[in-house]
Amino acid sequence: MAEFSPLAESIYSGNGMGQHYTNPEHTVVQRSVALVRETDGKSVLDVACGRGLTSLALTKNTDVEHITAFDINKAAIEELDKTARKEGLPIHAVVFDAAASEGYGSVVTPESIDVAVAKDVYPFLTPDNTRIMLSNIHDALKPGGWLLITSPSTRSRLYQEAEPTGTPLYRKLNQAAKDYVQTDLDYFTFSTIGNIAELMDDNDIEMVEASHYGRAKGWIMALGQKNNTLLKR
Ligand SMILES: C[S@@+](CC[C@H](N)C(=O)[O-])C[C@H]1O[C@@H](n2cnc3c(N)ncnc32)[C@H](O)[C@@H]1O
Repeated sequence: MAEFSPLAESIYSGNGMGQHYTNPEHTVVQRSVALVRETDGKSVLDVACGRGLTSLALTKNTDVEHITAFDINKAAIEELDKTARKEGLPIHAVVFDAAASEGYGSVVTPESIDVAVAKDVYPFLTPDNTRIMLSNIHDALKPGGWLLITSPSTRSRLYQEAEPTGTPLYRKLNQAAKDYVQTDLDYFTFSTIGNIAELMDDNDIEMVEASHYGRAKGWIMALGQKNNTLLKR
């Protein structure tokens, strides 16, 4: 495992999740729970779920009936699958790529998802793969479904440490990301939610909420599909 700064380590150390990613009181997890409650969501997709922090919180705090949770990290999925089976939770945990070019048809029925959550996978993806991910999520959502997506804020220490002379930290994070996802990933971005906004029009998705949470040091945004196209079907 590469060496990283203490802050980076707290986020990407070990098998990839520091305290930041194991705290069920995390603001983003709480916002996910609130969104599923507000929309009375029964069918949820947890994109790049890691160990399933959000999925687990949703099964405990909402009336969700089915969650498909996937990640490319096999160890994280095995852990979540074991927990879900042991506790009889309605979580279907699978190893899958968020930017799969064939779409999500093999893991979820198209237009079957009420709420999709993609928490902090965005920095791992190239802009092209982010575009593919958004398109895949769009196709998985029911018309009028919701996506909640987060990315590190440019106001976070992580970002500020890396800019403008942060090449060494960037490299370390890149290596950490590679080590963690155990694949030939060769990209780690510091892009922000603003870049996602630029991709949204391409994907017939509109931003309806964007917030910065100081404690979580991340942006969170709820996206709703533009109904005009899909409802005409
Ligand atoms: C920072 S962790 C966040 C995990 C989880 N969403 C959470 O908040 O606890 C980023 C996750 O993205 C996953 N990941 C990276 N690239 C991916 C891809 N192309 N497809 C699916 N998962 C991916 C990593 O394996 C990792 O679990």
